[in-house]
Amino acid sequence: MFWLLVIYVSIPFIVKLCPSIQAKIVFLNFVRMPFFIDLKRPQDQGLNHTHNFYLQPESGVNIGVWHTVPDQRWRDAQGKHGDWYDATLSSAHSAILYLHGNAGTRGGDHRVQLYKVLSSSGYHVLTFDYRGWGDSDGSASEGLMTSDALFVYDWLKRRLDAKTPLYIWGHSLGTGVATNLVRRLCERGSPPDALILESPFTNIREEARSHPFSMVYRYLPGFDWFFLDAITANNIHFASDEKYVSFLNIHIHKKIKTSFQVKGLMLSSLNSGLSCP
Ligand SMILES: *[C@@H]1O[C@H](CO)[C@@H](O)[C@H](O)[C@H]1NC(C)=O
Repeated sequence: MFWLLVIYVSIPFIVKLCPSIQAKIVFLNFVRMPFFIDLKRPQDQGLNHTHNFYLQPESGVNIGVWHTVPDQRWRDAQGKHGDWYDATLSSAHSAILYLHGNAGTRGGDHRVQLYKVLSSSGYHVLTFDYRGWGDSDGSASEGLMTSDALFVYDWLKRRLDAKTPLYIWGHSLGTGVATNLVRRLCERGSPPDALILESPFTNIREEARSHPFSMVYRYLPGFDWFFLDAITANNIHFASDEKYVSFLNIHIHKKIKTSFQVKGLMLSSLNSGLSCP
């Protein structure tokens, strides 16, 4: 009992003294679940129409990407390489850039299930591991996650026909990356065709405060100072609510469920379009 108390009391001090621990807890990128999958072989996850490749957002930094074509093309896709996959992007099918959440990799099971649903609805799906995740090089930070997302977005945009819609889909921590990305695109005057936020949060401080992990400390005086300020000290904000992006308001307070609602959701976003503030 005494030792438990000692541990309970020391954790906040340890976190305060080594704020990088908080960054690891937020990103959880060291948790490479599932452990034994080869990200070079998406076919092992039942994705027989997916191409694994690497992009370099910065020289010497490779990030792993999967491109899944609409599943009606799965037969054509057998045995094909990068050039074939790239050429499919100029077809009329819309594309979705998927930004995954913390922990795991682009090969995580719940993610793979979503790629399948989206590809069976006729979309190209581009998904990648941010720097520091999966088999991508480098180490994690909010700024680099955002610039990697922008890099993959631009890569994709250049290959799509000018009229083909490109949507951004963020999940969990990835919704924070998605709103950062949309802000960057809006600053350039070229918003995406839609932004879909699945299980979004308002900003990282509120998210950490309400997260089950923080339950045992939440009511402790100094919780903000010990824990939340340590997150901010790592330059992690993910302040979706500060992006004063009015269109977000609809989504952000509502947990959006995927699966069969997907088609309806996509259509409604498509019709409403997306305009920058
Ligand atoms: C390949 O993937 C498609 C789409 O998910 C599926 O319908 C098909 O049965 C798969 N084919 C094989 C041989 O596994």
